[in-house]
Amino acid sequence: MGALTPPDGQTVEGLTAWLSGHLRARGSITEPRWERALREVPRHRFAPSAAWFSANHADAPRGRFDVHDTPAAWWAAIYSDTSIVIQTDDGSGDPASGKGVFSSSVSAPGIVFPFLELLNPREGDRVLEIGTGSGWTAALLSWAVGQDGVTSIEVDQQVAAQAEANLRAAGFSPHLVVGDGVKGCPERAPFDGVHVTAGVSQIPLAWIEQTRPGGTIVMPWHGNGRIGYRLRLTVLDEATAIGRFHGRADYMMLREQRYNQRWSSHCHKMAEQSTTAVNPRTIGEAAVGARLLCAALAPHVAWHDIIEDSEYSVLLYELDDHTAEGSWAACDHAPGAAECRVTQYGRRRLWDEVSAAYLEWLTLGSPGYERFGLSIDPAGTRLWLDHPDGPSWELPA
Ligand SMILES: C[S@@+](CC[C@H](N)C(=O)[O-])C[C@H]1O[C@@H](n2cnc3c(N)ncnc32)[C@H](O)[C@@H]1O
Repeated sequence: MGALTPPDGQTVEGLTAWLSGHLRARGSITEPRWERALREVPRHRFAPSAAWFSANHADAPRGRFDVHDTPAAWWAAIYSDTSIVIQTDDGSGDPASGKGVFSSSVSAPGIVFPFLELLNPREGDRVLEIGTGSGWTAALLSWAVGQDGVTSIEVDQQVAAQAEANLRAAGFSPHLVVGDGVKGCPERAPFDGVHVTAGVSQIPLAWIEQTRPGGTIVMPWHGNGRIGYRLRLTVLDEATAIGRFHGRADYMMLREQRYNQRWSSHCHKMAEQSTTAVNPRTIGEAAVGARLLCAALAPHVAWHDIIEDSEYSVLLYELDDHTAEGSWAACDHAPGAAECRVTQYGRRRLWDEVSAAYLEWLTLGSPGYERFGLSIDPAGTRLWLDHPDGPSWELPA
């Protein structure tokens, strides 16, 4: 943890007031009580003294800041809309280097507060958090519901130990568990709310079972790879929940739900070639609503686009494929060309799947993410448009 007072010219009050105003202006905080929480749960108590800051916006600070070398920059970065990397490569990397796979962080305030507003915890509630990380969110939840109401689970022993130290030093004492959050915490159930702070592709039934009917579960839902959506579910009974999407939220995934993506370029010669009249740019730049529908119609596919010498290509990779050669596809468009070149390899035809899903989305009237919702029951998970009884698509298990 860094020094407790900023250098001359900065005060914690001034830095917090700046961040508060910034989050209000961006619409990330709309309720005054969360501005009070930001003031009363100091974020600097949950950050390492040297850390890598990963900006949430182009205008936020990014890079390594050390409280001893560049104190003013470190303090300004803490009180800006950045996430702070606190672990890489599950503990084997140097988190202050910015290298490796980020495996734990203090989430960016512009992502944390919209989730808290969506969860809407009230004094006296019992809340379960999945992914303690630094402990900052657990402290904000404790501030909102009271010390005894919060249970927080962290899978990583080292991260959990530091979170406990941060929380105690800041004066908070939620119930902390080291373990797999996918199982929830049955001995502390029922919960009024569950706040998941790691990306989820498969929603565990345990969270629904352990939440009261009428209770709320919020999570970053990554049904199709890197793109995450803010999802709020309302629990109807011990096996059923229903809810809608409320915006974007990209998170690091739950450990057991991480995905792989691979590009098997050595298979290029064996790939199938064809042409299409569909311009890949319309798909590569499709709205997030189209990508949401792809979670059902073209599941487990990651997208990348490349612009080179004014040629536009979209690359599609299969996720979660542990076979030797994951399926992939590319579609290339040269300016002025009537036809675009399609290359597809593997047991799936990813371009065919994704372009068909995109055309289906156009046929539906190009709906935005806010018109979609999810229903979960023992039969499975369904994505629906506008209403649970409207058009719907089963999501793969
Ligand atoms: C983005 S960080 C959470 C940020 C945290 N809420 C905070 O305020 O600092 C995600 C955390 O989820 C943890 N995690 C990943 N999979 C988990 C699991 N199955 N159970 C519990 N925690 C998990 C990671 O180790 C990481 O610390």
